[in-house]
Amino acid sequence: LGNGLARTPQMGFNDWNAYGCNVSESLIKSTASAMHNNGMQAAGYQYVNIDDCWLTHNRDGNGNLVPDPAKFPDGISGTAAYVHSLGLKLGIYEDAGTATCAGYPGSLGHERQDANSFAAWGVDYLKYDNCNNQGVNAQQRYTAMRDALAATNRPILYGLCSWGQDSVWTWGPNVGNSWRSTGDIQPNYNSMLSIFHSNVGLAQYAGPGGWNDPDMLEIGNGMSATEDRAHFSLWAEMAAPLIAGTNIPAASATTLSILTNSRVIAVDQDPLGKQGTMVSSSGGRDVLAKPLSNGDVSVALFNEGNSATTISTTVNAIGKTGAASYTLTDLWSGATASTTSAISASVPAHGVVMYRVAGGTGGGGSTTGPMRAVGAG
Ligand code: DGJ
Repeated sequence: LGNGLARTPQMGFNDWNAYGCNVSESLIKSTASAMHNNGMQAAGYQYVNIDDCWLTHNRDGNGNLVPDPAKFPDGISGTAAYVHSLGLKLGIYEDAGTATCAGYPGSLGHERQDANSFAAWGVDYLKYDNCNNQGVNAQQRYTAMRDALAATNRPILYGLCSWGQDSVWTWGPNVGNSWRSTGDIQPNYNSMLSIFHSNVGLAQYAGPGGWNDPDMLEIGNGMSATEDRAHFSLWAEMAAPLIAGTNIPAASATTLSILTNSRVIAVDQDPLGKQGTMVSSSGGRDVLAKPLSNGDVSVALFNEGNSATTISTTVNAIGKTGAASYTLTDLWSGATASTTSAISASVPAHGVVMYRVAGGTGGGGSTTGPMRAVGAG
């Protein structure tokens, strides 16, 4: 969406994965404060997002949405003021139907009035859900809110929570800054894996201002550290929004070290804005490549299987050529090595080894024209 926002994938927090309906002003404030102090804000996490259940069950006499005063004693505007005082931005949730998924008032038919409320309260981001949509065409419903947000003249990042409906990736780039490509993620490896498979083929639709959204992060919510690192690596390789979904004030050092890995975040946030693609996949051994703006290529070697294995590719296969040797930086360990051709690693079960490959030509920034694989001859 050409609203100037999300020129790189949005980064932030959303309460749903860790707390479900138990959202409150105190939760949002303590999370924002923790992000401010624990390195997440410095690493690029900007949006602190409220999900479902922040409303009262009825609009007021003028038809306006009413934040639940027990959960948000200072309202959304008071919560926004605090989040803004830390240099962060506030996100909110609504639904492109008659009610939210949890049964609170929806915005279908109230788009202008509700967008005006969000803008007046100082909201910076809207996640717009898809429940109770009465069978009205999705593109029509999501476009109505796009136009309502634009009419407020406040920059509000617009995330379509459209679950892949009506091939949203084909019309999403004109309507939102991101679009959910799948149903909801769950905090387990099989869910993460199946969402990865659904999202990885959609690279052609992503770019600055509009991103495929394979749902929020489950890092810190029960997968192993190896699986959490794989999850973060794959989402970065796919240029996905990075929306942390765990209890931030109580996050472990391991969780925070994964969420704030600056080398992996730089891949996600690379200004070229290309979603990585599958270069090869066989026997659960996946090789992904993402061209980067300075000509480097980020490579993820993903072992889907249940035992360690070696995964191998070559510099030519990931689109690079023309140098006697190339530098590989391991984005998790930070170690560097050089290679003349092979890119290969032993990868633990459910793990990812991720490299930035430098040298020669053929990455995103050093060539005009599309990336191409060049044979050794
Ligand atoms: C469905 C969405 O896909 C979830 O991310 C979450 O927002 C829930 N609805 C909230 O009810």
